[in-house]
Amino acid sequence: MHLHFVGILAPALLRLEDQSLNLAIETRTLTKTYKSRSGAINVVHNLDLQVEPGEIFGFLGPNGAGKTTTIKILLGVIYQTSGEAYVLGKEAGDIEVHKQISYLPEKPYYYEHMTGMEIMQFYASLFGIKDDDKCRKLLDRVNLGNDMNRPISQYSKGMQQRVGLAQSLLNDPQILFLDEPTGGLDPIAHIEIRDLILQFRDEGKTVFISSHELSDVERICDRVAIINKGEIVAQGRLEDLLVGGRIEVTANNCTDEVAASLRGEDTLVSINHGRMIVDLPDSLSPNEVVLKIQTAGGEIVSVIPRRKRLEDLFLEAVGKDNKAKGRQLKSMVGSTEEAAS
Ligand SMILES: Nc1ncnc2c1ncn2[C@@H]1O[C@H](COP(=O)(O)OP(=O)(O)OP(=O)(O)O)[C@@H](O)[C@H]1O
Ligand SMILES: [Mg+2]
Repeated sequence: MHLHFVGILAPALLRLEDQSLNLAIETRTLTKTYKSRSGAINVVHNLDLQVEPGEIFGFLGPNGAGKTTTIKILLGVIYQTSGEAYVLGKEAGDIEVHKQISYLPEKPYYYEHMTGMEIMQFYASLFGIKDDDKCRKLLDRVNLGNDMNRPISQYSKGMQQRVGLAQSLLNDPQILFLDEPTGGLDPIAHIEIRDLILQFRDEGKTVFISSHELSDVERICDRVAIINKGEIVAQGRLEDLLVGGRIEVTANNCTDEVAASLRGEDTLVSINHGRMIVDLPDSLSPNEVVLKIQTAGGEIVSVIPRRKRLEDLFLEAVGKDNKAKGRQLKSMVGSTEEAAS
């Protein structure tokens, strides 16, 4: 009887041990279904995520894609409908794991009359920590040393975000979940928060960031996953995902005929009063384009290679599937693609 019991458990234990050795976060066919009047909706569907220890992982996707839902499952705040979710090798929601992770919500709510120091003391007490020196040091670390005795009501958005980061470090977490850590901040605050996140990684922490700020993600993340309508549409190392740039050829004195002859499946051409911009993948040679333009009497102004950006990847992965939203996203990320099409 006893042996039989072990026999049933053994494969599951082996599998967990295998994961805990390798990954900080893993989900397997993770699915969350909500019932609505029109039927059941999978807001997260068959999600397979792998986050390596010590990396900064970007979790991207349009509004409503299922990012926060996934984070809530990983934090153990809500349960999945099916599939598996592991954090530090244990099932999401495990009490021991809770002590080793922290979460900065998109809009942290603080009692405005409290000072930065009081906020820290309050959260420290929730972890059973009574260490004012630690609170002070963490506030110093996020550059709030001189403001720790001012009430939160007098803090700017960037200062509130930094207090949030200081608070999220109180339990020396191995994994930090940050939901939109740089949303709505000015460029200097972006740089400060990015630098702090890079420092966390240098200390060996795993950082899981959900963000719409693609330029921040591109600067600091090692790997990303893009989800759309609950499903992963791209996942991998940024350097692998961002291969394949574009080349932009600009020329004057061009005719509509030459423009039409250059337009192709993956070659975007725009022409305005004889000034033409040809945007082609770098897998194609620009020589042929240049030759055609010159033969037709056009004058080459520039040939500029452009590295693939995260926004290009995002639009490829998400935009096609959702034309109307894709256009909004284009303006959000400031893509130049529209001008060239
Ligand atoms: N409790 C709920 N009941 C029903 N539907 C829900 C519930 N919570 C979330 N949803 C739906 O699940 C989908 C995913 O929501 P989620 O908050 O995970 O998106 P998100 O990717 O975090 O979006 P955003 O970028 O806007 O924060 C949305 O369509 C949302 O309406
Ligand atoms: Mg969200």
